[in-house]
Amino acid sequence: MKVEESIGQKKSAVERELESILSQEDSLLFQAMRHAVFSGGKRFRPILALSSGECFGAPADLVLPFACALELIHNYSLVHDDLPSIDNDDFRRGKPSCHKAYGEDIAILAGDSLLTMAFEILAKAPLRENSRVKREQIIMEISQSAGVKGMVGGQLMDITVSQDALTEETYHELILKKTGSLIIASVKTGAILGAADASELEAAVKYGRNLGLAFQIRDDILDSGQDAKKGRLPRPNYVSLFGLKDSERRLRNFVEAAKNALDEASLESEELRYLATKLLELEKRS
Ligand code: IPE
Ligand code: IPE
Ligand code: MG
Repeated sequence: MKVEESIGQKKSAVERELESILSQEDSLLFQAMRHAVFSGGKRFRPILALSSGECFGAPADLVLPFACALELIHNYSLVHDDLPSIDNDDFRRGKPSCHKAYGEDIAILAGDSLLTMAFEILAKAPLRENSRVKREQIIMEISQSAGVKGMVGGQLMDITVSQDALTEETYHELILKKTGSLIIASVKTGAILGAADASELEAAVKYGRNLGLAFQIRDDILDSGQDAKKGRLPRPNYVSLFGLKDSERRLRNFVEAAKNALDEASLESEELRYLATKLLELEKRS
């Protein structure tokens, strides 16, 4: 099977599972949650968790609920990120953002519900063997990556950091927290479920870290100039800080480093390599 095809199958499995998770009710809150989740996301994090799980020998059906929980957390973060008090974005994935469609009050609650639902799914996801430790390890990983030391901390830096004082080091810290942490957690989730040993876990983190940095630099390249266009306060962006040429060079370097991390640990996964290489495509936002 070609790699695009196997990735496509993973994406379909994620869509089906999310569909079943979010069809419990037809309340206004669920409509808003569905609006946020089913608007054309790439499903990068759940696919990553599934590809990582496969690389480390975890059965796909075991990884799927964990993968979907990561996608719910990601979507909650986008709903809150778009709010007027944060990035003030009226559109997300070419459609009205959640607060534009449902109002700020409902959007805040929809984000809250997506986040809490993710942890409910993590708590009850079926596990085969006697693997209590794995679940605890994954919940610890995901909660830390989403919280103060991870994504929320990165969002705080994004809001508060002074552009003029921003060094490369600080910006890397910012994007590693804001975007990298959940991407690292996705790779680690698959690896933990596949019973990776300590050195394999270390390689997975190295891959995820470089992938996460590349992911946000790509997002920044595709996003550059949008703040001025949308009339919002400028947020730190790789291109405005370091220029387009340098951003593209760093993007290539991080993608290369991600693939090297796999090679160094002799981890053979066409999908994990492919997911890194795809980030070099800058023509369209896909
Ligand atoms: C966008 O994430 C926000 C960042 C963390 C950079 P994605 O590019 O994964 O967004 P969707 O889910 O595919 O729309
Ligand atoms: C969003 O980052 C990252 C989150 C953790 C929510 P950005 O603000 O850079 O991403 P977009 O451009 O809104 O997708
Ligand atoms: Mg934003």
